[in-house]
Amino acid sequence: MKVLFVCLGNICRSPLAEALFLHHLDVRSLKAHFEIDSCGTGNWHAGELPDPRTIKSAKKNGIEMNHRARQINPSDIHHYDYLFAMDHSNLENLHTMFPEHTDKIVLLTHYSDKYKGQIIPDPYFGDEEGFDAVFNLLNDVNEELVLFFADKQQASK
Ligand code: 4NP
Repeated sequence: MKVLFVCLGNICRSPLAEALFLHHLDVRSLKAHFEIDSCGTGNWHAGELPDPRTIKSAKKNGIEMNHRARQINPSDIHHYDYLFAMDHSNLENLHTMFPEHTDKIVLLTHYSDKYKGQIIPDPYFGDEEGFDAVFNLLNDVNEELVLFFADKQQASK
């Protein structure tokens, strides 16, 4: 299964979503079944490490981050099985870029019972508390998402 997490700048939400999804896969020994990455719809931060506030929030919860930001590219839509957008703006940008493939582009919360339809708010112009809130939300949503994929995999056996 190939999964791509997408936000605007690829320095706050999507690299953290990627790191937390990987963490929850690791906890359940499911890493080998997945290929995951993250990217942004914009290119302003290409090549940069995550925002220092994201790194700090992750680190105090035991999550290390070393992702380098990159912009989405046209081949991603063919390579990945799922593209997870953090908010409606990301979703609309992706649907506009890949109008033939909207079936595999959904909000991150799409398969969640608890958070379906909710967005992951952009913390960039806020304070550290906002970054911690995004951490907690992404952690919860992605644990549920890993369980969703684990069930799906079990059902297909
Ligand atoms: P992200 O947050 O999309 O979660 O990585 C942002 C990062 C940078 C900017 C906006 C949002 N920016 O305007 O540069």
